[in-house]
Amino acid sequence: MGDVNLSVTLAGVALKNPVIPASGTFGYGREYAALYDLNILGAFSWKGTTAQPCDGNPPPRIAETPAGMLNAIGLQNPGIDAVIREEVPNIARIFQGPVIANVGGFTVEEYAENCRKLDAVEQCKILEINISCPNVHAGGRNFGTDAKAAAEVTAAVRRVTRKPVFMKLTPNVSDIAEIARACADAGADGLCLINTLLGMRIDLKTRRPVLANRTGGLSGPTIFPVALRMVWDVYEAVRLPIIGCGGVASAEDVAEMMLAGASAVEIGAANLRDPYLCKRIVEELPEVCKRLGAERIADMTGAAHE
Ligand SMILES: Cc1cc2nc3c(=O)[nH]c(=O)nc-3n(C[C@H](O)[C@H](O)[C@H](O)COP(=O)(O)O)c2cc1C
Repeated sequence: MGDVNLSVTLAGVALKNPVIPASGTFGYGREYAALYDLNILGAFSWKGTTAQPCDGNPPPRIAETPAGMLNAIGLQNPGIDAVIREEVPNIARIFQGPVIANVGGFTVEEYAENCRKLDAVEQCKILEINISCPNVHAGGRNFGTDAKAAAEVTAAVRRVTRKPVFMKLTPNVSDIAEIARACADAGADGLCLINTLLGMRIDLKTRRPVLANRTGGLSGPTIFPVALRMVWDVYEAVRLPIIGCGGVASAEDVAEMMLAGASAVEIGAANLRDPYLCKRIVEELPEVCKRLGAERIADMTGAAHE
């Protein structure tokens, strides 16, 4: 068997491999670029960016869990204009591949306005719309847990950009396929799943929640089987490319996510444990593919359904 072909496509966007650091665990690339050449990556997804600068939630906003972590960062970011002015030119210096722009918002109009601005940013090849952050309290509206609201955001952003729009879904619903279908019907080009699972911890000594926000989002290896099952369900429900995310921590996990239906794979919390992990996974993937008898990694997408 010759060299393994690691290239994949996401709604027409070519990636040299399926490995993508997940939003919120990779900033805007600066810190990781000091550790390794980011050009080894298929893409990266930047920190959820909102219209206005955002300080996020008060600390403590991180808590440990068995095989994972809780976070309640709350969309801390410098705001879309500062990102376009300061981070985008820097990203062009440290990474020449496709960037996935993760977009946050508190209203439908804000999502659309952010996407309209990003439409002019050449290097952002995919807009990933986070309708699933468990740590912001948007006046009672939770776009990702309601099919109608998810469709409304999808349609609004679809209207203002020519770039592929990937809706990022929350696992905190009873039927994720229903939300996926609503996004597909409203014009989404792809889906990213999953975001974090709502959780909490209590400090035994103080008898108070560990996180100042009380609850946070659970991520890391502990959620991998949940994420995998949801990718499986959504692959059966809609004909859209899926970015699989949740608990991935090895090249074998990437392969498993793809067999479940993912066209590419994001890696989040595991970067915080080992900042070189994504690089190592890219390096190990050819060997893993060979072992699994796959000459083209793209052929693995959904293969477990056949
Ligand atoms: C510290 C932290 C910050 C995050 N911030 C964002 C964010 O800004 N936007 C977003 O869509 N997801 C965010 N996420 C969710 C991750 O992108 C990912 O969907 C989730 O953590 C599950 O993947 P993992 O288990 O590999 O971490 C964040 C996760 C962590 C751990």
